[in-house]
Amino acid sequence: MINFLVIGGGGREHALVHALSKSEIAGSVHAAPGNPGMEKAARLHPVNGLDAESILPIVKEHDIDLAVVGPEAPLAEGLADVLRAEGVMVFGPGKAGAMLEASKVHAKRFMDRHGIPTAPWDLCSTFEEAEAAINKRSAPYIVKADGLAAGKGVVVAKGAEEALSAARAMIEEGLFGESGRRVIVEDGLLGQELTVLAVTDGASYRILPPSQDHKRIFDGDEGPNTGGMGAYAPAPWADPSLMEKIKNKIIEPTLAGLRAENTPYCGVLYAGLMIGPDGEPRVIEYNVRFGDPEAQVVIPLLETDFGRLLLACCEGRLSEVPWTEPARWAANVVLASKGYPGPFEKGKLITGLDPEGLPGDGNFLVFHGGTARDGYGNIVTAGGRVLSAVGLGDTLEEAIKTAYRGASAISFEGAHYRKDIGRKAFLKGSEQEW
Ligand code: AMP
Ligand code: GLY
Repeated sequence: MINFLVIGGGGREHALVHALSKSEIAGSVHAAPGNPGMEKAARLHPVNGLDAESILPIVKEHDIDLAVVGPEAPLAEGLADVLRAEGVMVFGPGKAGAMLEASKVHAKRFMDRHGIPTAPWDLCSTFEEAEAAINKRSAPYIVKADGLAAGKGVVVAKGAEEALSAARAMIEEGLFGESGRRVIVEDGLLGQELTVLAVTDGASYRILPPSQDHKRIFDGDEGPNTGGMGAYAPAPWADPSLMEKIKNKIIEPTLAGLRAENTPYCGVLYAGLMIGPDGEPRVIEYNVRFGDPEAQVVIPLLETDFGRLLLACCEGRLSEVPWTEPARWAANVVLASKGYPGPFEKGKLITGLDPEGLPGDGNFLVFHGGTARDGYGNIVTAGGRVLSAVGLGDTLEEAIKTAYRGASAISFEGAHYRKDIGRKAFLKGSEQEW
């Protein structure tokens, strides 16, 4: 039996804990720090940070065999390397592999070296360079800070003025730190965004159901970008011929490129894609971990024992694991705090989480993203993305309906959620917003 540790405390990590707690090979499941939603499925370990100093004592005390790193920051800092050196199996790449997410310049150069389609780009280290790169393009203008910026380092500007001031803030004022003083200006891509996740042991891989996130806070993709307000999977418009292109032009060349450069990679490769009006996929970004909220719809769909899948990746024998293609659908709706993604209040009492009031029959799940217990043991809000209502079904319509039935049963003061999650899935080609 395997003792698992999930590192992180959001909705993605709750989805990981949920799947591992059902694994036939799970001895125990731990989470650091985890969240109140995981209390029944895992042993929680409060930690100050997600660094080696905080995690190693847990690993040793609880005989952890396999650690899954949820968020990108500890991967970028090399947590997986430290744990592996201590003899722990880790699902998640080491520092070298994590560079695909930690440095956008690295990722762009990697794609260029390996012929992986992405938007044409310029590297700008001075404001003058950025100005020239912006002025030779047309709207939408895309300006990206190089390093990790907690999802805030990308500006999509309708006008050149906005793009120029974003570039100035990044380069001259160091808005996103020293690494963010290097900026990428790239062509704006038109099309539909698609998330494709592949789990890999470095040699073999499995592509998980393609999903679509909803990044803007309001219906109709209005308002500021967020971490993600809901997702659905599989995206029905990602037909077999598109998935074949994604496999051949993006996933395989990326993994082959990592191998050719002697970069070991065990974990998830997240390809954030734009599917253009020409039907061609191009990479917007790589991430080196499960997406959030995508993980919350993709992982519950998997038919293969999740613990066995991760173990096989860590042992370099993914190709031996029998694989059943997922056959169902999932959608999730994120309930956010009032004001998110700007400033918001915490500590609001959450009601409606008792299973009696929620859709039953195993087709509904709640994953906690930003919750805590108050001094009386009540579950209260503690983050921007508070909870996620996940519906599963034999059709996408059913999954969406179930997710919304659950979302409407849960409440807290100021709760906000989008009412149009999954709408894009039903648009015909001609109605797509190219
Ligand atoms: P990222 O933080 O890299 O995921 O970027 C945030 C969002 O910016 C993406 O989800 C896209 O919606 C948008 N974006 C980034 N790069 C481009 C691009 N080249 N063309 C159009 N949209 C983009
Ligand atoms: N949902 C986007 C991300 O996880 O980066």
